[in-house]
Amino acid sequence: MSAPATGAAADLLSGDAEEPLLRVRDLTVGFRTEDGPVSAVDHVSFDARAGELLAVVGESGCGKSVAAMALSGLLARNATVSGSVRLGGRELVGASPDQLRAVRGKEIAYIFQEPMTSLNPVFTVGRQVAEVLRVHEGMSRTQALDRAVELLDLVGIPHPRERLRQYPHQLSGGLRQRVMIAMAVACDPRVLVADEPTTALDVTVQAGILDVLRDLRDRLGAAIVLITHDLGVVADVADRVMVMYAGRVVERSEVDELFARPRHHYTVGLLGAVPSARVSGGEQRLREIPGLVPTLEQQPDACTFAARCPAADERCRSQEPPLAPAPQSSHEVACWHPAGTRPPGDRAPGDRAPGVAREESG
Ligand SMILES: Nc1ncnc2c1ncn2[C@@H]1O[C@H](COP(=O)(O)OP(=O)(O)O)[C@@H](O)[C@H]1O
Ligand SMILES: [Mg+2]
Repeated sequence: MSAPATGAAADLLSGDAEEPLLRVRDLTVGFRTEDGPVSAVDHVSFDARAGELLAVVGESGCGKSVAAMALSGLLARNATVSGSVRLGGRELVGASPDQLRAVRGKEIAYIFQEPMTSLNPVFTVGRQVAEVLRVHEGMSRTQALDRAVELLDLVGIPHPRERLRQYPHQLSGGLRQRVMIAMAVACDPRVLVADEPTTALDVTVQAGILDVLRDLRDRLGAAIVLITHDLGVVADVADRVMVMYAGRVVERSEVDELFARPRHHYTVGLLGAVPSARVSGGEQRLREIPGLVPTLEQQPDACTFAARCPAADERCRSQEPPLAPAPQSSHEVACWHPAGTRPPGDRAPGDRAPGVAREESG
């Protein structure tokens, strides 16, 4: 990266162990709409460290994509963003569009769900991968094509040279997604945000894509933020997990800890979705939890999950619980009455914390 300008950033570079690569604090996103302002992300804080895969989970509409896009100013014009996003010690909230453009691709890159919509159908794959390298790295056409071959190889595409001559529609969905990943990592970004990258793909293809992400984490030392619906995916590849509900972080922990001892009743509900015997390669969706995610017109000064929670009482309906260390664990949980070591039996048929079964008796 280029040299940071401020003294504070210089401190941070010297103390890499102290400041994580990506440091997000109180990220808050609202949208101006015809019906008035809505809140989509509410004081979200997290770190992503180099060489680590952080999974972000939560039902649809919980603010995962909005939070991800807010990191580098990708949101629509009607968005208002506050809080702090520091990447390598540099503040991105409030940075100019030019500065953000320079950061994107080079330092933070994205992979989205639909590779077909992101690739241009009229140009060959090679031209599109090479274009990234020419624009961002200033490579010549030949250099860029040679590097494109290496990149396709890196993401596990066989016969890369021949593939470069093909058009997107000539590739399967899984290959297209690999091409998108190749483009995302073309400039060695330090943070890779993958937003439901395998959702549109079938199970065996998914597994291949996850292998690629794992490999990039290990080989490039990138910080990977993986947004997913699929707790089977989380159990397989994540180092840490952050659970979001209605725009807020409700629980956060190491992956094994989360599966062994979910503390937030929302997490307990989500885990009910995973078959207790892990079907290898099977799709493991989040369980449907009764009730709906609250609308976003206003964020209540209360637990946003209270209306759907089996443990809710008056306090939950009148005071927002802060994200705080959970008793006897390394979790943080935003709940006045955290669940015990086992999910309540009345919530989940087959009520064991499933998935990672290493701490069965705990
Ligand atoms: N440009 C926008 N204007 C108004 N509301 C938006 C806009 N973009 C997203 N939202 C709202 O923000 C909320 C969070 O969406 P999103 O982050 O996409 O959810 P997730 O990725 O968790 O499924 C949703 O209610 C969505 O409708
Ligand atoms: Mg989304």
